[in-house]
Amino acid sequence: MRRLALALLLTVASTPLARAEDGYDLWLRYPRIDDAALLRSYQATVSSILVGGQSATSRIVADELTRGLTGLLGANVPVSRDLARDGTLVAGTPASSSVIADAALGAELRTIGDEGYLIRSSRVRGTRVTLIAANSDVGVLHGAFHFLRLLQTHQRIDALSVADYPRIQHRILDHWDNLDGSVERGYAGRSLWDWFKLPDYESPRLADYARANASLGINGTVLTNVNANATSLTPPYLVKVAALADVFRPYGLRVYLTARFSAPIEIGGLKTADPLDAQVRAWWHAKTDEIYRLIPDFGGFLVKANSEGQPGPQDYHRTHADGANMLADAVAPHGGIVMWRAFVYSETGNDRHKQAYTEFQPLDGAFRPNVLLQVKNGAIDFQPREPFHPLFGAMPRTPLMLELQITKEYLGFATHLVYLAPLFEEVLRADTYAKGEGSLVSKVIDGSLHGYTQTGIAGVANTGTDRNWCGSVFACANWHAFGRLAWNPTLSSADLADEWLRMTFTNNAAFVATVKQMMLSSRQAAVDYMTPLGLHHQMARGHHYGPGPWVAGGARADQTSVYYNRADALGLGFDRTETGTNAVSQYAAPVRDRFASLDRVGEDYLLWFHHVPWTYKMASGQSLWNELTARYCRGVESVRGMEGVWRGLEPFVDAERFDETRSFLAIQEKEARWWRDASILYFQTFSKQPIAPDACGPPADTLEHFMSINLRYVPGTNP
Ligand code: GCU
Repeated sequence: MRRLALALLLTVASTPLARAEDGYDLWLRYPRIDDAALLRSYQATVSSILVGGQSATSRIVADELTRGLTGLLGANVPVSRDLARDGTLVAGTPASSSVIADAALGAELRTIGDEGYLIRSSRVRGTRVTLIAANSDVGVLHGAFHFLRLLQTHQRIDALSVADYPRIQHRILDHWDNLDGSVERGYAGRSLWDWFKLPDYESPRLADYARANASLGINGTVLTNVNANATSLTPPYLVKVAALADVFRPYGLRVYLTARFSAPIEIGGLKTADPLDAQVRAWWHAKTDEIYRLIPDFGGFLVKANSEGQPGPQDYHRTHADGANMLADAVAPHGGIVMWRAFVYSETGNDRHKQAYTEFQPLDGAFRPNVLLQVKNGAIDFQPREPFHPLFGAMPRTPLMLELQITKEYLGFATHLVYLAPLFEEVLRADTYAKGEGSLVSKVIDGSLHGYTQTGIAGVANTGTDRNWCGSVFACANWHAFGRLAWNPTLSSADLADEWLRMTFTNNAAFVATVKQMMLSSRQAAVDYMTPLGLHHQMARGHHYGPGPWVAGGARADQTSVYYNRADALGLGFDRTETGTNAVSQYAAPVRDRFASLDRVGEDYLLWFHHVPWTYKMASGQSLWNELTARYCRGVESVRGMEGVWRGLEPFVDAERFDETRSFLAIQEKEARWWRDASILYFQTFSKQPIAPDACGPPADTLEHFMSINLRYVPGTNP
């Protein structure tokens, strides 16, 4: 007996424990290929690695290929010094690798720019090779990740002919991180930047962060919150920023900072921040020179001005263009850019939907060439569903970049499983009709519609110090989808879900097909249980978690829910047609006419643009009231469906990630019911109609109860 116990103990001790699947490895796990035939074919194709160059980036390429291939092929794949044998994977540029130079790819290399790459199955000097070729080391790194992705997703690698390049120049994560370590609208722990310990300690996690971004092709990171703190521009902080830049640089990731417009006063000792004042201009020039001395490849500034209490040029009766151009002139000699946000949100007494267009459209053409106007996907604020922002297509002479939110401020934070790629895709594929049919938002932002010289896209990051990076495993799918769409906005949400699932969990076809379906339907589910039929901004005040359709009063009408839902005895919804605020007039004629027409607007945006009678007959034949309640129920049912599906997938997923997802889906189901019950009961006080019997059952509590819920210490709230 004792001998048996000892033998068991020895067996356990000598068996390597299965690696904990806590989500840290994201989509870069590289487990051994579990399909024997495929594994053999991969092993036959790649048996050694030859990476050209000595740069830090080249070393990262070699490490990544070694790590990836050793993991995926389940055996050591050696790094060789020369082209010794068939099956060599050669990575480099014509300058760094004589093999790549000999492959004579010149003409094709000219088509892929600085960051793109070619992957070829080929023969060089009589040897069978796979080539990863690019014009820069960072291009090679992007190609290396692409190559590994092919194996991770079980695709063939023996007859490759890939040419890929980013369609958008500036592919950026915006971190709303504060210097005290908190993250505005962040639900994954604290900021990844440990400002206090920087620059003396650089957590290994920083390189892992950069690596994950490089694997997607993200090439910029704005380190600080748009609600900016001028302290980040002071010398002690710039040294910290430089330390981060040093870690990120080999991964092709540039750093940017937010510029607080009043910094010349707050840290410069000036009396004004007027952008036309000579001293102010000189201050910004000197500050910018100081930054570039420390960080020669500093990307530039992101600015939120004259919005939600932030200072800006309008404080001095100057325009946004005056403010942006002043900063643009300061960074221009260094090749920097200014991303000036169009999210202006101040009390105007007019429809908030109209404010950005009203302020910015007349300034088209007034900005310096190195200014990009950063426009949120919709005119309100990252709602579960919004029509595209009317500025897209309306500023042909000003580069517009798209700002998406990866962190789920209005979509249930980290615990609700809401896959955002369908939302991103919906915006990118929206047709502005600015130059006739086919004038898609994606063509505005990739520059092809108006011939922009600068192009960009930004996502408000969802990363933090949580072990799994994003607060939940599935939330990281949104980081992945953003990065991949930033590289190529024509990719489909279905393909991206497929890819992410294979890389994050398993290539098992049944698992992938089932979970992909769940992911793709999850965004519509959230729309249904939170804000169906074009309702918007119905969240609890301040923290945006949970329902608050009754939110009224306070300092500003346009910060309340009743402002947006306009519920009354007649009906529901915001009249933005000619009889209302006429926000529809900001869109090109075909879009305007569609949005303005009750018949043609479609149910997704119905209550966004129209005040609709409770008795209005919907496409289903039901009244608005019955359709509305059915939608809330449909949302709850969808989440229940996801729960059921996930429960059946236990055999495919490691315990930790399975349990997390199961628990979070239970939270989501509970809160979907909360949304449904609270919203239906509130709107019923206006419709005065019974809740139609349906699958959802009666509300679990009274309206008074739901209205009395007052959550405190909610994550992500303003410090
Ligand atoms: C939203 C969000 C704020 C953020 C703002 C912005 O209003 O709630 O936290 O500062 O957007 O994008 O500037």
